[in-house]
Amino acid sequence: MTISLDYSNMMGDIVAGGVSADDWRGATNNFSTVRAGFERRRAAGELGFLSLPTDALLHRQSTDFAARVRGRFDDVVVLGIGGSALGPIALRTALLAPAWNSLSNEQRGGQPRLHVLDNVDPHTIGALLGRLSLERSLFVVISKSGGTAETMAQYLVVRERLTAATKDAKEHLVFVTDPAKGALREIAKAERIPALDIPPAVGGRFSVLTPVGVLPAALVGIDTKALLAGAAELAGKCAGTELTSNPAGLFATLEYLADTKLGRHIHVLMPYADPLRDLADWYVQLWAESLGKHRSPADGGVGPTPFGALGATDQHSKVQLFMEGPPDKTVTFIAVRELGSDIVIPRLHSDVKELGYLGGHRLGELLSIEQRATAGALARRGRPNMTIHIDRVDAHHLGALFMLLEIATIYAGELYGVNPLDQPGVELGKQFTYAMLGRADAEQARQEWNLLPKPDARYSWGS
Ligand code: PA5
Repeated sequence: MTISLDYSNMMGDIVAGGVSADDWRGATNNFSTVRAGFERRRAAGELGFLSLPTDALLHRQSTDFAARVRGRFDDVVVLGIGGSALGPIALRTALLAPAWNSLSNEQRGGQPRLHVLDNVDPHTIGALLGRLSLERSLFVVISKSGGTAETMAQYLVVRERLTAATKDAKEHLVFVTDPAKGALREIAKAERIPALDIPPAVGGRFSVLTPVGVLPAALVGIDTKALLAGAAELAGKCAGTELTSNPAGLFATLEYLADTKLGRHIHVLMPYADPLRDLADWYVQLWAESLGKHRSPADGGVGPTPFGALGATDQHSKVQLFMEGPPDKTVTFIAVRELGSDIVIPRLHSDVKELGYLGGHRLGELLSIEQRATAGALARRGRPNMTIHIDRVDAHHLGALFMLLEIATIYAGELYGVNPLDQPGVELGKQFTYAMLGRADAEQARQEWNLLPKPDARYSWGS
């Protein structure tokens, strides 16, 4: 595996508007404190995601289940939301052939199609359920808490359809949830539905290397061993005690300094490879939900705003904003050295200025040159940016990227002085939803909801 981070364009001596020598010195000296905080959390057993790559028993839960059901299903459908969906989506986009679900069974090598329902929009759910053969479908219900409204609603809809359309609904269900707690675990126990574990010390957005990501991956034939090996290898590279030898420490520190010292509050992750498009979405949730916090209700809140983009596509969209808009962003590129089978651009229209120069180059080469050109152009305009280089998009490198960004998130939590592992800010909205849907234990939220200001006719438009 080859993975490297080039952060030259983040530094003030290279890019006007980059990190100053003083701030860098301060951060370098402070890194031992940051690491100590990380180690404290590890020792307290809070960083369960670190042990996942070497947890052979947990890995086997997924591979054994996948082996048991091999050949029985044409479609695997993940039901989940947030951390219980974004990992499987990122894995699917990165490691399955493009348009996997439209390929023939033969082209998929006999592996099932993979769908992820990560919302409760009836339009999408109705359309998918309407076209599946339920007798040939497996539903993977993923919820750490085992009670998230959206996922439970999806499950109820699916369960009823399965009961109506199949011989035994339970044969088409597998749960991924907390080993002991929550409604899903209870149902699994009572009805003997297979249920795989999300270890208690692994939170939703850090769970991609548990059966949350690994089971769907194993079910469609992704090399889950390589995924975990890549993550383990990267975790090893983050053992460095010096900031400059620790890639996750570097990423977190540079982004933190950019936000807090340079006013670069928006952190863009911009892979130059279609398969990594959804990794950016996964990172956005990880960085946002982990770091957007207040330390006390009075402090107004801290945390960067993560943002996803895709090269070269977004060069014709968001890059104008990155280049000339408010100087409040950093851009982290992910550049891939080998983009699979490359395509030579034919030498046609050689006499036409706008086309002729392209002939003989390769599409992958064009993509790579465009990434370097965009990084250079941003640097020239005093817009800090850095580049993560990987050899190729495969299970090994993807595992490494997941681990890199997860460890960086914990370091960033230390730097911001927030707990990166909780998400108290989403609770009130959930409680209000329960209140409006009439959940029995939501009486207090119902009272609070009733006291909120209601829409005012003076401030509304339309009928
Ligand atoms: O990262 C998180 O903890 C959240 O985004 C959760 O993944 C999300 O709320 C879904 O929760 P659960 O897996 O309990 O259904």
